[in-house]
Amino acid sequence: MRIDLFTLFPDWFDWFRGQRHVVNATESDGLELRFFHYRDTTPLTGGQVDDAPYGGGAGMVLRVDVVDAALRAAYEGSGSPSRVILLTPSGRQFDEALAQELASEPDLALLCGRYEGVDERVREHLATDAVSIGPYVLSGGELAAMVVADAVIRKLPGALGHADSALEESFSDALEGAPEYPHYTRPASYRGWEVPDVLLSGDHERVREWRLERSRERAARN
Ligand code: 6GU
Repeated sequence: MRIDLFTLFPDWFDWFRGQRHVVNATESDGLELRFFHYRDTTPLTGGQVDDAPYGGGAGMVLRVDVVDAALRAAYEGSGSPSRVILLTPSGRQFDEALAQELASEPDLALLCGRYEGVDERVREHLATDAVSIGPYVLSGGELAAMVVADAVIRKLPGALGHADSALEESFSDALEGAPEYPHYTRPASYRGWEVPDVLLSGDHERVREWRLERSRERAARN
């Protein structure tokens, strides 16, 4: 899979791209990550990328011609990716089902906006999806793009050390879409805080039932 990130702040991703699971996915040929700086391809002089909003108001808006130029430069001759995703607080809320859906795409483009916003014509004409990571406002789409990329990348073969780690985890089908059950490890007793007996019983069927029950309980509580 290829993930292309379009941003005005490529440095923000330096830390992300060095993380173990991202490196693993890249080295196992499951993932190609590329970065595009809107400023590198802007058709405007002096590296301009934004402008004042029509109708007035505070802040600056990322221009549609700038985003279009970046996409054209990246995909000229090769065709656009199957999904072009604009990160915006007004988008569809990101969840595990969407992460799963995106992980099965051959290529993704993630468009980060900055400033007060992005010209609406990006969403109308250039993006296939508009995605938000939750009901709060971040100063830009970069952190949201990392959240989306991370949730997708960990589903790729080779990203996680153990193939099973992603199978029975929070929101998976195996857990009926519920959050994951609690985990415990040694010591069995610590400052009087005990590990539930059932986990020490060696009875796999009872352990399985207990875990499903805790998982359902958490879903109900949240
Ligand atoms: Cl995708 N962008 C910004 N700027 N803020 C957000 C968001 C995205 N998702 C939640 N808050």
